[in-house]
Amino acid sequence: MTEKPLDGTVGQGPKGRPPSGDADLKAYQRTASDLLIHFHIIEKIAKIHDPKNDAFQEQGRILFDALKKFLESEDDATFRIRHSSLLLNGVRLKSSLATYPIFKFVMNEFRLRELEALAFKPGLTLEELFRFMPVFAHREKREGSMFDRLQAEIDAADITHIVLEKAFEQKTPSNLNRNTARVYFLSIVHLKDSFQRHQRNEGIKIQSTRRLMQSIYNHIVDNESFVFGMTNLKNYDEYTLNHSVNVCLLATALGRRLGLNRGEIVDLGMAAFFHDLGKLETPLAILNKPAKLDDGEREIMEQHPFKGAEKLVLLQESQRLPLRAIHVAMEHHIKEDLSGYPRYFHKDDVNLFSKIVKVVDFFDAVTTKRVYRTNVFTRAEALSLMLEQSGTEFNPVILKAFVNLMGALPIGSLVALSSGEIGIVFDLNADPKFQLRPTIRLVTDKAGNKIDGELVDLTERDPDGGRFVRTIVSPLNPHDYGIEIADYFLAQAQ
Ligand SMILES: [Fe+2]
Ligand SMILES: [Fe+2]
Repeated sequence: MTEKPLDGTVGQGPKGRPPSGDADLKAYQRTASDLLIHFHIIEKIAKIHDPKNDAFQEQGRILFDALKKFLESEDDATFRIRHSSLLLNGVRLKSSLATYPIFKFVMNEFRLRELEALAFKPGLTLEELFRFMPVFAHREKREGSMFDRLQAEIDAADITHIVLEKAFEQKTPSNLNRNTARVYFLSIVHLKDSFQRHQRNEGIKIQSTRRLMQSIYNHIVDNESFVFGMTNLKNYDEYTLNHSVNVCLLATALGRRLGLNRGEIVDLGMAAFFHDLGKLETPLAILNKPAKLDDGEREIMEQHPFKGAEKLVLLQESQRLPLRAIHVAMEHHIKEDLSGYPRYFHKDDVNLFSKIVKVVDFFDAVTTKRVYRTNVFTRAEALSLMLEQSGTEFNPVILKAFVNLMGALPIGSLVALSSGEIGIVFDLNADPKFQLRPTIRLVTDKAGNKIDGELVDLTERDPDGGRFVRTIVSPLNPHDYGIEIADYFLAQAQ
């Protein structure tokens, strides 16, 4: 079965035609009501008994059998709340006098968990359902999002055939930013956990990775500038973790710009996420060596693509990891002229995804301060350096798309203004005529004092003479001014 995207499209409806005739619809309503009643009973039992309890076992089995039967003819069983109604696979369910309290109870349970939909997928096992019910039933009042906690517990319990969808949240800018920042940090935590699980010889939770990539894709669609802002975060955790998340975000945005479809972009994101998995085998003394590597050390370092591909082959055998992730791990240091490493001999052998990751990998690396890298490039400098190597280091078409995506003054650039103030590029101007007039967050005043300044639009004109109030004079290197660009974006997510 192909996996369905999480947002808004879980449980599109019954396989084949929805119930149409009166008799069909009545039978469907009966089956749906039965499922709901069984779900309600087992949830109530799960609130007071553990899964060893006889009543839990008996009622759990009844729900499981009913779901199994339903899934024989349906793609999934998705309960969804929409406009105060309860739907099963898109069909609005009718309550009766007898079932009304049950409807009310279930809908309330959904709301308390910030849940819009709950989908049972084919392949669900009895054990999985038994693990799910106690997690779902126990609701503790604590700080933070109930939905996020529930999702984390479901992931931890390795439940993959029951999928939750979060209730619609108003997309105000601060909500959006908060959620984007949350997804960023969740990605770091997930990658760290994946690395640790891998080192303990436990499987990586690929389903959770895929969900994360779907969520990243949605954030790129809804809030691309802020995502770019977040990729200025360089020192949150170990370099490889931070770097891999940034590469994943930038590759996702670039894949979208290149016109890949959603499914391909999610695969690309996964491939980018794990591109440096092989570095787990590289000794830290080599990874973090402040000086130039000697020949022996370089040889070990250059094994990371192969080691990564090897690990992903093993993972791919057991889980649904995109095949192209293996290509990307293997090929992301191969240059367009086929130099680089490992040695390849035919251009056509290098996967498109690898060429995309090659571009964003380089960009993130040279804009990050490292013990061995004395020369940190600003974002704009990195792009112009990369353009000099178009056709030799990078695929020209992909590089051009990336340069266009980032703009002449990429989001997160520090700039000096004609007013004497200094600011950070926060959002690009959609009008190409004004591409050098983005929205800026002021970070110093005219006297050079650091300020928590306002957002200013550089297209703003003087009311008298019609001249622009502020114009960018020159780009600056944030390292020279002790300015942490990411902090200013994070402040927008409070
Ligand atoms: Fe690498
Ligand atoms: Fe990398």
